Amino acid sequence: MKFHVWFGALLLMTLAGAAACRKNAESAKADPLLSAYDTEADWNDAQHVVPLSFQQAQGKRIFYQQCVWCHADSTPAGPSNRSNLTPVPPLLNDRATLNAESDEYMQNIVALGGTAMGKSAMMPPYGRMLSAEEIRSVVAFTRAIAQPPYQPPARAESQYSAK
Ligand code: HEC
Repeated sequence: MKFHVWFGALLLMTLAGAAACRKNAESAKADPLLSAYDTEADWNDAQHVVPLSFQQAQGKRIFYQQCVWCHADSTPAGPSNRSNLTPVPPLLNDRATLNAESDEYMQNIVALGGTAMGKSAMMPPYGRMLSAEEIRSVVAFTRAIAQPPYQPPARAESQYSAK
């Protein structure tokens, strides 16, 4: 009789423990913040989700820390001040503008700023704030979200291109 009570109690504790574990595992999976940097919704079509590599995900983090304030994302009313800027900065998924620019040019304008590249001084230089790796990753992120999708140039550009 005693044995049955003990056994029953043990069984109940085991079941309760297993249920608690399963609950934890489920709530961990459901936390959307854990996967916030794994993908980016297409800015022109929220139904289309772009998977991001590790490098592109680092670029997404930097974009939303540094660049979104001027360049904006797909959020209609902000968080950016883009519409108040002259010239209006291109959306960084704007393939028509950015596909023609080489990776080298993109890295240079981010590192050296607009003035150094013959563009507006409204585009700040990030070379002392972001590492070369971080700048490469933010360029990789813009390529990942480009619409229509980014096509690398058929022929590699000269390293010394004047652009
Ligand atoms: C203070 C506002 C501001 C911030 C912050 C900013 N930009 Fe810009 N950016 C501009 C403006 C304005 C231009 C347009 C310059 C022009 O056309 O003369 C520009 C241009 C560019 C261009 C060149 C586009 C082209 O047509 O060649 C790239 C690439 C770019 N920005 C990337 C970035 C990245 C990446 C970040 C974050 C690390 C960033 N910008 C942060 C204002 C900003």
